[in-house]
Amino acid sequence: MARERTPQGVGSRAVHGGERQQRTSDALTVPIYQTSTYVFRDTQELIDFKEGRIDKGEYGRYGNPTIQAAERKVAALDHADDALLWASGMCAVTSTLLTMLRPGQHLITTADCYRRTRQFCDSVLQRLGIDVSVVPAAQPQAIEAAIQPTTRLVLSEAPTNPYLYVLDLEELAAIAQRHRLRTLVDSTFATPFNQNPLSFGIDLVMHSATKYLGGHNDLLAGVIVGKAPIIAALREAQGVLGGISDPHAAYLLIRGLKTFALRMQQHNANGMALATFLERHPRVRRVYYPGLPSHPCHGVAKRQMRGFGGVVSFEIDGSLEQTSSFIDALRLPYIAPSLGGVESLVEQPALMSYYELAPDERRDLGIGDNLVRYAAGIEDTDDLIADAEQALAAYC
Ligand SMILES: Cc1ncc(COP(=O)(O)O)c(C=O)c1O
Repeated sequence: MARERTPQGVGSRAVHGGERQQRTSDALTVPIYQTSTYVFRDTQELIDFKEGRIDKGEYGRYGNPTIQAAERKVAALDHADDALLWASGMCAVTSTLLTMLRPGQHLITTADCYRRTRQFCDSVLQRLGIDVSVVPAAQPQAIEAAIQPTTRLVLSEAPTNPYLYVLDLEELAAIAQRHRLRTLVDSTFATPFNQNPLSFGIDLVMHSATKYLGGHNDLLAGVIVGKAPIIAALREAQGVLGGISDPHAAYLLIRGLKTFALRMQQHNANGMALATFLERHPRVRRVYYPGLPSHPCHGVAKRQMRGFGGVVSFEIDGSLEQTSSFIDALRLPYIAPSLGGVESLVEQPALMSYYELAPDERRDLGIGDNLVRYAAGIEDTDDLIADAEQALAAYC
């Protein structure tokens, strides 16, 4: 029998959380249970299972021990009762919204969010007869003003993508309680290292585990954390909707999380250093980083977050082409979508996530031609700064 301990710190929870009750052949690491189904010894065992007298695996879409270990670990990180892993962050968001909302009901969501989430709300939800209001990011008063008798759920990122606006989660929870609404916060950019929305009274937290939780740019997964009854209802729905993760991705997530606390310290340090350097540079017009006093949400971020992450958005002094020339001059970060992995990644949102939109459509969504989103990895801070410095001197 494994010795149970209660590790308190985030680093200890990242290493040990969710794993101690499970040992196969005395192996230290959680095995990859690569199976699609589970066997019953005889019909009596099947009946005992159906009657709830024993707990065991039934079929891969309803559970897997490797996935369950990953879920327990993320739940431990967010001080949550339970967590539910999905095939991707998008799968987690879309399946949760589909499960929680009915035709005729109303969702409030905020501007400046991951484009695919917004697309899902604008297209699929509206087609299903679910009304959606989009209000400005990080403005609790705007959320309260948009509430209708049919409103059921508020969805917001905190911080938002790409401008890193930080909604006051305590205020959101108070509004939701007054109006009997549910709240879902996409905390992908913060991670449980920097922010625990549940502790402010938020009902459900979503992370794209593809990002900092996995941390190595080698897996896709999403996770929803929250109270046991609501996660149990989502688990039921997942068995029907089918967007499960797979045991190999779950193993990679468990392995990636072992170094979560160490990685996050370096992401935070690199994000802060890069933002500070860029803000002082004459060829940079504006920097968006919640750790900087110049960010409109700095006050909320300081109260609510323990660190500000590795993503820094900024506007280059120049055109679309000049901004591309700056990006091409960078030598350390790869040009790629995504964030939160050990390798730094950089993108020009106008040409990455918003490429097919006309320039005025992009501008309406607040995406300028000269916007850069830099997702600092865990490389040495001085190397990232020196690289940014040479690229800022070189672009034309
Ligand atoms: C804030 C945010 N939420 C959700 C997602 C979707 O996650 P995934 O790519 O794992 O589906 C992303 C992806 O970039 C994101 O940045």
